[in-house]
Amino acid sequence: MTRKVDDFRLRLGKHELVPIMIGGMGVDISTAELALEAARLGGVGHISDAMLPTVTDRRYDTDFVKTKLTQYKYNLENSDKTDIKFDLGQVSEATRLHVSKTMEAKRGPGMVFLNVMEKLTMNAPRETLKARLEAALSAGIDGITLAAGLHLGSFAMIEDHPRFRDAKLGIIVSSVRALQLFLRKNVRSNRLPDYIVIEGPLAGGHLGFGLDWQKYDLATITLEVMEYLKAEKLDIPVIPAGGIFTGSDATRFLEIGAAGVQVATRFTVAKECGLPSDVKQEYFKTSEADIEVNNVSPTGYPMRMLKHSPAIGSGIRPGCESYGYLLDANGRCSYIDSYNREIALHPDAKKIEVYDKTCLCTHMRNFKLWTCGHYAYRLKDTARKQADGSYELLSAEHVFKDYQFGTDNRIALPE
Ligand SMILES: Cc1cc2nc3c(=O)[nH]c(=O)nc-3n(C[C@H](O)[C@H](O)[C@H](O)COP(=O)(O)O)c2cc1C
Repeated sequence: MTRKVDDFRLRLGKHELVPIMIGGMGVDISTAELALEAARLGGVGHISDAMLPTVTDRRYDTDFVKTKLTQYKYNLENSDKTDIKFDLGQVSEATRLHVSKTMEAKRGPGMVFLNVMEKLTMNAPRETLKARLEAALSAGIDGITLAAGLHLGSFAMIEDHPRFRDAKLGIIVSSVRALQLFLRKNVRSNRLPDYIVIEGPLAGGHLGFGLDWQKYDLATITLEVMEYLKAEKLDIPVIPAGGIFTGSDATRFLEIGAAGVQVATRFTVAKECGLPSDVKQEYFKTSEADIEVNNVSPTGYPMRMLKHSPAIGSGIRPGCESYGYLLDANGRCSYIDSYNREIALHPDAKKIEVYDKTCLCTHMRNFKLWTCGHYAYRLKDTARKQADGSYELLSAEHVFKDYQFGTDNRIALPE
């Protein structure tokens, strides 16, 4: 008998879930609306913690960005951005607002988690991460997925929080080695992660691989991690991610012992996804040749994106006075260096171009950096093309159920 995803369940403590997690997509691409649909349908949805102050400004009429810009306006023309700090009270407040509003709206048997990226160093890596993690726990998030970084100190930061043992806490890794480091470092907290997301080389967003990502394979890494856990007698659910495009792809992972799957790219063209409609059409129309993995992200991690993303080559002034999420512990970001270099080379130019790095904060916030999974070029096979050549957006429910019930490598088109 052909099996399907719905024949399996993801067990997290006392929760029994449809084994489909929608991955976090910053900045507000995986919206509350998208995550809430996953929860309503019995799975797990992620909201993202990336740049929440600007997200809450947009959603809930706060004015965090304006307040910060007013404070640092004097620095706009300065090529040195080391002065710019986040107000921890505002960082916490933005997280509290977004998480509590989302959790209040939650219906159904599933869960909503928060994707928290360590690489958002915010010119005070420890303090700002701790503020974001604690605020999310206090605001009632069901779980937190530690992403974009090794997170060697993250459990210790929150071990005194009353919800440290009750909230679900998971980690994203791309190798057994990263998992070993994390587990060793956290022995002291006497708390294992509740789940491990294994992100392979075909995922969207930042990659835990170099530009040699093609040498790696998600199924192989998944099996390695499962063997390691077995040898260590650790019973932790394993959730592969990256390039799982159909229900049949997901079922194959569940059949080899994965507890669930994390998926994202298929939901970028859902109505509930935060990308603007015209950008969703770019995702639909993309071809394999239009997608690349490059080094333009100042995080230092390679990232997969559409080659014609407006962010690539854009020489806008660094937006640190408003944002500044990628400023490292010393107030530096590699885009600032690239930008200053081009300004020095072309002192009289009205407009400069910067190709080696991009201003990730501003461009992600404005949906100008079109990151996607490797199989984004198959999105056109998942929807109906309309008379004007555009594609009809899908409902998140349709995509979710296609993963849940799909068999025989087929993708169901909406009725
Ligand atoms: C548009 C987009 C944005 C993403 N942003 C993030 C992010 O902010 N943090 C993160 O940990 N992963 C991010 N990811 C990765 C996804 O959460 C997910 O693990 C991965 O894309 C799954 O592979 P798939 O897209 O092939 O299904 C992003 C993926 C996409 C497509």
